Amino acid sequence: MSDILLAGREPASAPAASLDLRPLTGHIGAEIHGLDLSRPLPPSTVAAVQAALWQWKVVFFRKQPLTHAQHVAFAGQFGRPTLGHPVYGYVDGHPQVYSVARNRFSSRHTGDQLLRPWTGWHTDVTAAVNPPAASILRGVVIPPYGGDTQWTNLEAAYEALSPTLRDFVDALRGIHQFVPPEGQGATEEFLRKNRARPLVSEHPLVRVHPATGRRSLYVSPLFLQRITGLSPRESRQLLDLLFEHVVLPEFTVRFRWEKDSIAFWDNNATAHLAPRDIYRLDFDRQLYRVTLKGEVPVGVDGRPSTAIEGEPLDAYE
Ligand code: SIN
Repeated sequence: MSDILLAGREPASAPAASLDLRPLTGHIGAEIHGLDLSRPLPPSTVAAVQAALWQWKVVFFRKQPLTHAQHVAFAGQFGRPTLGHPVYGYVDGHPQVYSVARNRFSSRHTGDQLLRPWTGWHTDVTAAVNPPAASILRGVVIPPYGGDTQWTNLEAAYEALSPTLRDFVDALRGIHQFVPPEGQGATEEFLRKNRARPLVSEHPLVRVHPATGRRSLYVSPLFLQRITGLSPRESRQLLDLLFEHVVLPEFTVRFRWEKDSIAFWDNNATAHLAPRDIYRLDFDRQLYRVTLKGEVPVGVDGRPSTAIEGEPLDAYE
């Protein structure tokens, strides 16, 4: 049993309860045991889980057989759930729940990906001007092997840059939008859905966390297309450096799913990677995700992100 030590601002509401918290790596990821997420949590426990999330970036729970409604209710204790996915839809009858199925639409593109270490890594919905603050993913059908998810700590990645490079990237901004992974083409369905809800935003490359004030290297490899104000070659080469840096194994944690596991991540300070090995296996994989409404990111200079196309994501109530 360990108490949460929150480096940064204290949570605004109740004092934090003590949790059975078991960190998984030096930088990111902790399992939380001893809670029943199917029922409302006391305010002090909500504060403790929130503090753990800000400290460990992704927290995991085991043996939580939630319904969709309980999943949304759990999420609602930490913020305001959004529509399941602004572009790719939601589960029938559960508008705040997004289906993460093995063959979900957003993973279907044409041609072969250009596989580089950062291919597929992303922070959720950074094409929007206010990407979700957090995402809560629940495992329902889990393959007997394969299908792990990985997360990386973008604050640790920022801290590990040299002071000179930190100063340089502090002033930069970049354009985020939905495009197929590098090397692949868009399907007709992809184009149609993205035309129906176009989302393009400019975010700072270094984001100041809205709750803790910590800085993170806010680069989302799947969505961040180019750095504003640099030539295409400068932009590509600097992005390759930063993308490779943020996915260094020392900043990451890898989670082995079980049925009824839950992963809850701070989408302000992490990127994650959905598994590719499931496409080599015959097993099904079905998870469900709820995301919480986020704030418009702010850079080191205090400048907020700007929407180039599309409206901010709103809570779905
Ligand atoms: C996601 O990208 O939100 C889903 C991750 C996963 O499928 O493991």
